[in-house]
Amino acid sequence: MAPDPLVRLQAVSKIFPGGIVGLDAVDLDIISGEFITLLGPSGCGKTTSLRVIAGFESPSSGKVLLDGRDITTLRPFDRPVNTVFQDYALFPHMDVAENVGFGLSLRKLSGAEQAKRTGEALDMVGLADKIGARVSELSGG
Ligand SMILES: Nc1ncnc2c1ncn2[C@@H]1O[C@H](COP(=O)(O)OP(=O)(O)OP(=O)(O)O)[C@@H](O)[C@H]1O
Ligand SMILES: [Mg+2]
Repeated sequence: MAPDPLVRLQAVSKIFPGGIVGLDAVDLDIISGEFITLLGPSGCGKTTSLRVIAGFESPSSGKVLLDGRDITTLRPFDRPVNTVFQDYALFPHMDVAENVGFGLSLRKLSGAEQAKRTGEALDMVGLADKIGARVSELSGG
């Protein structure tokens, strides 16, 4: 039997004001550990799909499920989902460690746990030496 999807879009439509169709009954299953790329022409709904999963847009109809749980009406910060934006992803007034650890501080993890996980995340992407750097000192990527 196929595993249950981690993320499921069930007949998700998004109609923007003025009747602009952003998504038209989209079905999408993403299995845990699967690497998915959305590929399609400009305006086909890639960004809108990601925004619906993150909760930045609410569907006009249809459902968003995470691990079998209906999260369609949950606010973005109540969903265990993260978005890495291409631009404007960093808080300029925080250093690298504070930016990386921000979500952990919202979740009220202890300082030691935040420091540990922040260090691990930076290690993973080869940026451990930038831990105290200012955002303005980093390269774009
Ligand atoms: N806030 C909005 N208000 C009105 N229409 C919108 C809004 N956001 C997206 N749309 C429309 O919804 C459709 C899907 O847009 P979306 O941004 O999801 O496309 P995309 O696949 O990400 O395109 P691109 O490859 O250009 O990034 C387009 O017709 C777009 O103009
Ligand atoms: Mg887009």
